Amino acid sequence: MQGFRPKGDEFLVILTGAGISAESGLGTFRDKDGLWTRYDLNEIATPEGFARNPKLVLDFYNARRRNAREAVPNAAHEALARLQRDWGGDVLIVTQNVDDLHERAGSGQVLHIHGGLEGALCAACGHRWPAPAAMAPADPCPVCGKPGTRPDIVWFGEIPYHMDEVWFALRQCDLFVSIGTSGTVYPAAAFAQDASRAGAYCVEINAETSAVAGDFDAILIGPATRAVPDWVAGMLAVRNSAA
Ligand code: OAD
Repeated sequence: MQGFRPKGDEFLVILTGAGISAESGLGTFRDKDGLWTRYDLNEIATPEGFARNPKLVLDFYNARRRNAREAVPNAAHEALARLQRDWGGDVLIVTQNVDDLHERAGSGQVLHIHGGLEGALCAACGHRWPAPAAMAPADPCPVCGKPGTRPDIVWFGEIPYHMDEVWFALRQCDLFVSIGTSGTVYPAAAFAQDASRAGAYCVEINAETSAVAGDFDAILIGPATRAVPDWVAGMLAVRNSAA
C-alpha cells in the first residue's frame, strides 16, 4: 500500500464479491467450475429466464440458499467485522453477495446491492417477506395472493439496490478496497474508477488480478482468508500506533 499512509480515522468503503465466500464453500460464478460455467445465466439470472421457467430458477436459488445456510463465515468475513468494530472512521461494506456471511460474522454496515437469498419478493405487488427454505412457483404472495413469487435478488437487466447511498459513499471515501470480485459486472466494476476520480486510494485484494486491475493503486494477491486478515491487521496496527 505504498502511496497511502492511513492515520486511523479515514472513511473506508469495501466492496466484496463471491471470492470472499469461496473458502466458506460457496461457489463463485466465473472461476473454473464456477456457477456460470455450469448454468446459463440468461436462463437463471434474468426476469425473462424466470418468466420462461420459474421452477428452474427457484430450484437454483433454493440450492444456493441451502448452501449459504450451511456455510459459516471465514477469517476474511471476521477480519472485516473486526475492522468495522475497531477502526476509528466509518467502514461501509458494499457486497454483491447474496449470502449473509458478513452479518453472521458480526458486520453492521452492509449494503447488499444484488439483494439476498433470505428475502422473497412478489413480482406482482412488490411485497417483501422472509424467504422459506424452499420456494415453489405456485407459492402465493401473503399480501396479494398471486403466484409468481421470486427471490429478492437483483437479476441482469434490473437496477441494483442502494445505489444512491453507494455513489455518495464512493465520492466521500478516502480508501476503496475491492475483495474477491472479477470486475466484470457493472455497476460494481466501475466503483474503483469512480472512487479514484473522487480522490480515494484504491486497493484490490484477489486470488488473481481482476478485469479492472488497472483502476487500482495497489494490488494484494492471495486467498481472501489470508490476504484480508493480513491487510486488516496492518490497518489496525496503524490505528493503534496513532492512538
Ligand atoms: P466472480 O465469480 O465473477 O468472480 C470471483 C472472483 O473471486 C474472481 O476474481 C476470483 O479470482 C476471486 N476469488 C476466487 N476465490 C478466491 C479466494 N479464495 N480469495 C480471493 N479471491 C478469490 O464473482 P463476482 O465478481 O462476485 O450477480 O460476480 C459478480 C456478480 O456476477 C455476482 O454478484 C452475480 C454474478 O452474476 C448476479 O447474479 C446478479
